Amino acid sequence: MRTVNVNASENYNVYIEQGIIDNCGEIVGGLVRGRRCVIISDSNVAPLYAQRVADSLKAAGFRTALFEIEAGESSKNPDNLVKAAELCVEYGLTRSDVLVALGGGVVTDLGGLCGALYQRGIAVVQIPTSLLAMVDSSVGGKTAVNLTSGKNMFGVFYQPRAVLCDSTLLRTLKEEEFANGMAEVIKYAALKGGRILEIIKGNMENNLDELIEECVKIKRDYVCDDEFDKGVRQFLNFGHTFGHAIERISNFSVAHGSAVSIGMCIMAESCEKNSLCSKEDKELLLSLCKKYRLPTSCKYSSDDIFMASMSDKKRESYDINIVLFKGFGDCEIKKILLDDLVVYLYKGMGEE
Ligand code: GLY
Repeated sequence: MRTVNVNASENYNVYIEQGIIDNCGEIVGGLVRGRRCVIISDSNVAPLYAQRVADSLKAAGFRTALFEIEAGESSKNPDNLVKAAELCVEYGLTRSDVLVALGGGVVTDLGGLCGALYQRGIAVVQIPTSLLAMVDSSVGGKTAVNLTSGKNMFGVFYQPRAVLCDSTLLRTLKEEEFANGMAEVIKYAALKGGRILEIIKGNMENNLDELIEECVKIKRDYVCDDEFDKGVRQFLNFGHTFGHAIERISNFSVAHGSAVSIGMCIMAESCEKNSLCSKEDKELLLSLCKKYRLPTSCKYSSDDIFMASMSDKKRESYDINIVLFKGFGDCEIKKILLDDLVVYLYKGMGEE
């Protein structure tokens, strides 16, 4: 088993092992005193995996209840958050019990927030079922639901008690969902180069667990240095400033990974034009996105993307922090005036 320890405000492990969901009962049983568990999952994942998780928990002495949401981003809302909490009350969950979030980013974000708020905080174990959730959303304690005014607008930082990654679950993931996760993997390669870059340049099929471990280690390092996202954790936003804007303009019809991929490519193009990165590194970034079936451009104009960037959560009044791509393993956070963002967009989209 691969284990990555995260020593943030909560000390916990991310366990990576094929078939680990069938041992989740034993692991969860070692983390909490109580023996009641609410499993939060969605309509895609629950029919495939909830029974296996429940069986393992039952074998370890747990009583379990399932809260199932409709699959999709629109389920990540305050209404479902309250419904999940009501089920915890009905089921008599106490602070010594546990909530298991079994699913992709929607479920891990909503489940994490429910665990943070229920009785002011109960143990949450994350069992991510998408590549994106394994390498990003289930680790690091960002939890949230969406408001009609914006994505992830209503949430807290709350670290899980453990994260269990079982890469065999990715076999049932749709191709576009896998690609979604690959955008974050490529982001880690851009930030740090090294082994992740080596793996994704080659044939990664036999190296999936190692790849997940390497990504989680990078995320762990940023989270441990800057749990509350005031400094270096913002490196993880490479590609996300433009990406979030593109998601918003498309009314979320462009998936997160696709939007981040486009965002990274725009930034790389812009950095090359500013002589900050080499043509070779930019080309490599674009070719990796293409290799993993991610888009590198979009139909929206730079003015549209600029307007949508104005409502970015990372913006501080008239400033915004952006992540520049200077080459693989060489990115930089730069505070710029919001108005200057449009210059990066013009250059990155060839509209100078
Ligand atoms: N997904 C970015 C972060 O956790 O900071």
